[in-house]
Amino acid sequence: MSEHLTVVTHPLVQHKLTLMRDKNTPTAVFRQLLREISQLLAYEITRELDMTTKRIETPLTAMDAPVLAGKKLALISILRAGNGLLDGVLELIPLARVGFVGLYRDEETLEPVQYYFKVPTELEDRLVVAVDPMLATGNSAVAAIDLLKKAGARNIRFMCLLAAPEGIARMKEAHPDVPIVTAAVDERLNEHGYIVPGLGDAGDRMYGTR
Ligand code: URA
Repeated sequence: MSEHLTVVTHPLVQHKLTLMRDKNTPTAVFRQLLREISQLLAYEITRELDMTTKRIETPLTAMDAPVLAGKKLALISILRAGNGLLDGVLELIPLARVGFVGLYRDEETLEPVQYYFKVPTELEDRLVVAVDPMLATGNSAVAAIDLLKKAGARNIRFMCLLAAPEGIARMKEAHPDVPIVTAAVDERLNEHGYIVPGLGDAGDRMYGTR
């Protein structure tokens, strides 16, 4: 992808996103919508995957048919809300390898601290798609991508549902080589770091916690 930021304006994505933003949308419906949107975003993010051909036989004849080339891609969920996007993408790309990055925010320094990191081998040869529904301050996205690069990843994309201008700017500064694919760019962050108008806390809405 050549663009640093791609906003997927497809009507289905936008309609589903509106349903997700609505505070009256129940948890189970929220999760289902996230799953559906994740697949539409995955369609966009994988648009330029390398292809090769494979000799197959249809019931009528032999042909060289297109198949994905190279190593299986790596999906990296930034815990915990990333799992909501991961589930849908994995349905669409079932052979993908999966990794997890867990980060929490230190109360004093406000810096992200790693508590879990488990990723597929040979990251350097894979397309790596990091997923987290909310790109807010960008602190955890930047830290997660720092870790992925340290682990060898060279071709990384970031998938989210909503992005704040602040998070996009932070990512562009820290990781200009990592394209972002999102369903919308909202107005701003509030004083608590929530995206406005947003949809609230994605993890809480997904799992019914508060
Ligand atoms: N994380 C969320 O879940 N929601 C926001 O609005 C910002 C960060």
